[in-house]
Amino acid sequence: QSVAVLGAPFSRGQKRRGVEHGPKVIRDAGLIERLSGLDYSVHDFGDLHFHHPEMDEPYMGVKFPRTVGAANKMLSGAVSRAIGAGHTLVMLGGDHSLGIGSVSGHAQQCPDLCLIWVDAHADVNTPMTSPSGNLHGQPVAFMLKELQDKMPDIPGFSWTKPVLSSRDLVYIGLRDVDPGEYHIMKNLGIQYFTMRDIDRLGIQRVMEVTLDHLLARKQRPIHLSFDIDAFDPSLAPATGTAVNGGLTYREGIYLTEEIHNTGLLSVMDLVEVNPMLGANHEAVEATASLAVDVIASSLGQTREGAHASIGVPP
Ligand code: ARG
Ligand code: MN
Ligand code: MN
Repeated sequence: QSVAVLGAPFSRGQKRRGVEHGPKVIRDAGLIERLSGLDYSVHDFGDLHFHHPEMDEPYMGVKFPRTVGAANKMLSGAVSRAIGAGHTLVMLGGDHSLGIGSVSGHAQQCPDLCLIWVDAHADVNTPMTSPSGNLHGQPVAFMLKELQDKMPDIPGFSWTKPVLSSRDLVYIGLRDVDPGEYHIMKNLGIQYFTMRDIDRLGIQRVMEVTLDHLLARKQRPIHLSFDIDAFDPSLAPATGTAVNGGLTYREGIYLTEEIHNTGLLSVMDLVEVNPMLGANHEAVEATASLAVDVIASSLGQTREGAHASIGVPP
């Protein structure tokens, strides 16, 4: 079993500088060592080098469209190659606009993938509904087939094509959804679990329904897109759009354990860690180390221990 790690130091999908340093702080928190300890052969593909055009005027309110479009095109190719080479991939962001490239590269190799979006936000604004114009609030709109008649031709995105139907997607952790996004989720009948739903049902039932919704008809590759702001800000303070009342540590770990237990995780994104936004060094380290815990748990670290891999006879 081999895991590839790919850094995407990119921040133009939102307005706060610093999230481009996410890959570095997550690696510094010991990611590669942790994954090696889980008995994977780990291939660190390093960080992508993005080009930033000098002129990139907003288009219909959308900010940095060409910059975000080009970065995602590059990411999409890299993800597709890694999956084609047989790796499970961990993509380190960067802001959540990178979901566009990550999911579309994954879909090139695995057209039947399903998507679990763990986030305080739905990130399904279209350029028309977006209150901010920030593309990290819009990635899911680019992926959904049912929304394409509502998507204008944005410069930088001519290479994209929608790869998902609304029934291939489940949200977990929502608590800050814009009016246009609510309308889209309801209209398309997207399965979602807000923090209130987690309060009512418990994380165990939420995962049962999530995996049943996505996998009951057939087993297929899972794309997990994990925005660190899904966690409560007390656990993950170093992020750009923190919202109170998020996942507990144990809910986050249970969620990822259940995804690992399917044996179907194919690509995982870990995005929106911004080391320039922690109140102090400890806050940044706590956020980065939480990111490492969630990635390790998604890839099979358990709380019940494991058999030693060294010195076990064949
Ligand atoms: N819904 C808001 C917007 O569209 C916030 C999105 C935050 N997204 C994120 N990936 N943190 O701008
Ligand atoms: Mn978010
Ligand atoms: Mn997000």
